[in-house]
Amino acid sequence: MTNTDPHSFSQPQNAVVKHLNLNLSVDFNSKQLRGYAELLIENLTLTNELHLDSNDLTIDSVILDDGTISIFEVKPAIPFLGNEIIIQIKPDTKRVKIHYKTSPNASAVQWLDPAQTAGGKNPFLFTQSQAILARTWIPLQDSPGIRFTYDATIQCPSNLMALMSAENDFVVHPDGIYHFKMPQAIPSYLMALAVGDLKFHSYDNRSGVFAEPITLEKAAYEFVDMPKMISAAEELYGPYAWGRFDVLVLPPSFPFGGMENPRLTFSTPTIISGDRSLVSLIAHELAHSWSGNLVTNATWDDFWLNEGFTVYFETRIMEKLYGKPYADMLTVLNKGELDKTIIELGKENADTKLYLNLKGRDADDGMNLIAYEKGRFFLTTIEFAVGRERWDEFINKYFEAHKFQSITTKTFLEYLNTELIKGDISLENKIRMNDWIYTAGLPDNCPIIVSAELQKADSVATEFKTGSPAKTLNTKDWTTHHWLYFLRQLPELMNQEMMIDLDRTFHLTESGNSEILFEWLLHSIKSLYEPANNSLEHFLTTVGRRKFVKPLYAALAETKEGKLKAKSIYKKARSCYHSVTVATIDELLK
Ligand code: BES
Ligand code: ZN
Repeated sequence: MTNTDPHSFSQPQNAVVKHLNLNLSVDFNSKQLRGYAELLIENLTLTNELHLDSNDLTIDSVILDDGTISIFEVKPAIPFLGNEIIIQIKPDTKRVKIHYKTSPNASAVQWLDPAQTAGGKNPFLFTQSQAILARTWIPLQDSPGIRFTYDATIQCPSNLMALMSAENDFVVHPDGIYHFKMPQAIPSYLMALAVGDLKFHSYDNRSGVFAEPITLEKAAYEFVDMPKMISAAEELYGPYAWGRFDVLVLPPSFPFGGMENPRLTFSTPTIISGDRSLVSLIAHELAHSWSGNLVTNATWDDFWLNEGFTVYFETRIMEKLYGKPYADMLTVLNKGELDKTIIELGKENADTKLYLNLKGRDADDGMNLIAYEKGRFFLTTIEFAVGRERWDEFINKYFEAHKFQSITTKTFLEYLNTELIKGDISLENKIRMNDWIYTAGLPDNCPIIVSAELQKADSVATEFKTGSPAKTLNTKDWTTHHWLYFLRQLPELMNQEMMIDLDRTFHLTESGNSEILFEWLLHSIKSLYEPANNSLEHFLTTVGRRKFVKPLYAALAETKEGKLKAKSIYKKARSCYHSVTVATIDELLK
């Protein structure tokens, strides 16, 4: 194993971590995790140095398995990457025990005051390790190319529940001590911990949902199709490998929509719309149980292998459960967002290639819709070229052959060549894989998907744009997706009459659907529609999901007055956001 990951200091070709014993106590007063990480290593070259990643950790001592205290060096911080740790080991060293504590500002960890939770009575903590933030709460080899098993003991306040990306219990332990086991090898970015006032609702013998008690009933209603999703996924691409699939609904400051932590997906509460219309996100995180968690991108330059496959797979699950017209709506909506992203980045921009070059940059930098949607359309291109049957057979074999491995784009392409294309020149020319992977922009063999349903919303948008009053529009039986498409077809800037007409008729400022509200707030900012001001401020000070808050601040920042307003709202909101969102908005409003 050679280290080709530009975002890690580890040298797995010499000594590689195979197992982690983690023992931490959770201190809400000092906002610190304290304890030890014991690493079981394989010393391949009988080296006397173990290289690890860390970022802003305080290392107290390092003890080797023979009981000796080891000499270690914590290097000065490198931007984005943090502090390399070099530990003196012996050729026969098998265990290295690192006593440490985290910084109260550890980027992965968000410590929430009771007021920032739904219940309002208890503090909450959650981690977000992807892409390179695991090193801010655990000293380890923080590269997706390295996999290890883990055991953990977490001590937390006695009324709270601790959960990890591992085998979980479903009840509160009165002594506040929780033991976890993850017997399958995972990459470090899937290390996850959450602590809070939580309750569990079971769907069946392998899935359920955790949430704050006050949120649990709504969450349980929303995600009721989870067992069906798991079965659909298995019918497509083979057995679910992780035992249970549970979802944890986090407070609204969670910076992402979802995070595929194995056995326990973390989710934003903003997909709880009351009508189950945003659950494709659960299908997405579930699909990662194959693409990502089972077969993992070896470096962040190969990120599309995780996300492109997952969007493709997610859409197939949605199609199986809700039919092709439904899946096509999702695809067409996302294609629109992809087109926008390519225009924003510029179609010559190297970040629009599937294979990225993130060396010297934050791994987070290149992570936009390209990996997701260009990745998905690349795979759809192959599906259309070879037919669904052959393609599904290939994907099944691909997962089976690479399970519990981390692979590069090159490995995938070689496998595609030997197992599917097999020298068929005409097929090769149909797919044009090099254009997709190594060339910027969108190749012109990109499949065109149409949605008859969304065409209806398009016609209605045209009617409104050409002067029909809102109350005459036929929006009967519209789903969230029709509304989103409709709103996106309207001009960014509308006059006050149009905005008032839409709002009075459809009550968009009060929408309880986060996606619809977000689209409406964007229009409101661009159109200087004042009646939405309170709703905007409320949204930005309660929700920390970056996908929503970034475009809203960016839209505000387009005008001088808007930027002042953005800064004043951000001043109130900043302490409620996770570091991932803070980093983005700090940069945007600086
Ligand atoms: N693994 C990602 C989230 C992520 C990516 C975190 C990169 C950190 C760095 C997760 O599976 C994801 O893609 N979430 C999306 C939702 C999805 C439906 C597109 C999100 O959070 O918006
Ligand atoms: Zn994903």
